[in-house]
Amino acid sequence: MIITEKINIQRTKHSRLSEVDFNNLTFGSIISDHMVVSDYNNGEWGASSIMPFGNISISPTMLALHYGQVVFEGMKAFKMKDGSISIFRIEKHYERFCKSMERMCIPAMSYEQFDEALKALIELDSAWVPGSEGASLYIRPFVFASEERFGVKVADEYKFIIFTGPVGPYYANPLKVKVEGKYRRAAHGGTGSAKCAGNYGGAFYPLQLARKEGFDQVLWTDATDDLYIEESGTMNVFFIIDNVIITPPLSDSILDGVTRDSFITLAKGMGYKVEERKIGANELVHSFQKNIFQEAFGTGTAAVVAPIQTINIAGKDYNLPKVSDNSVSMKIKQQLLNIRIGTAPDKNNWNTIIKL
Ligand code: COI
Repeated sequence: MIITEKINIQRTKHSRLSEVDFNNLTFGSIISDHMVVSDYNNGEWGASSIMPFGNISISPTMLALHYGQVVFEGMKAFKMKDGSISIFRIEKHYERFCKSMERMCIPAMSYEQFDEALKALIELDSAWVPGSEGASLYIRPFVFASEERFGVKVADEYKFIIFTGPVGPYYANPLKVKVEGKYRRAAHGGTGSAKCAGNYGGAFYPLQLARKEGFDQVLWTDATDDLYIEESGTMNVFFIIDNVIITPPLSDSILDGVTRDSFITLAKGMGYKVEERKIGANELVHSFQKNIFQEAFGTGTAAVVAPIQTINIAGKDYNLPKVSDNSVSMKIKQQLLNIRIGTAPDKNNWNTIIKL
């Protein structure tokens, strides 16, 4: 039992669980019964409470709405084969959350508080964790400047919330992406490696233009004109060329993806050669021409491992071989899923198990 007396818990009297069609889960529309809330005031984080998920009241002057101090995480919990629940890589997500908060001048929260509140919430809403393959409970911790005033300043008050929701696959089909040549997601020295809300808002306009042209996502390039690939939309990106798995190296303009890190660890463990190095759009074109470009895919908490079917570079479509269960990316994805549901050994201690 994780739920402790340290966390004040107010249980819902009107669970919405019976309204959910667990056979038709999409991403991002269904929210579980409860949420964690904690407030930062007078220089410290207050105790966490768990309460029924619901609206919060805010002032139009709330600083986050004006100056953008908002940071979030995306995590997942899974139903294991033996009926218990696993939460994936809490520590790694917490570390990234702290780094993002630091970059946005948001005061750190202790690991103990984050971990305890998260586990209590998942235990309380354990019935919301879906059991079907490819489905999971998405967990969204986030924090924002809640102080009410409109002078430009680093806020002195913050609100931390965790809510969850059952989700199905993020992308239903292999993706068609374009190498974005005009707009940039992040520049060196900027906030690209932080999981702050503005990074997503700033990406919408180029994405909207790309969608009008028939693409699902863009491949972001670095802020030089060399078109080095950085990320794809909400994912880190990988290419398999001549049997080598290649992904751009982490930098201050790339998000340090938890799935990226897990994928690299598993790939190496399964004997694949992995290179974290710069890769330009030109190299992709040359690899296509030499017929050695085998796979491309994105990785992310929401997307897991999402195959890319077509890459458009400077207006020309390059089509990759169709993915199958035998594709390297799919074999590694399956291994990741097996670890999460307990059918493969968790050698790296990534799972936190909630026994019910
Ligand atoms: C995730 O993969 O968890 C993300 O945060 C990306 C997106 C859903 C915003």
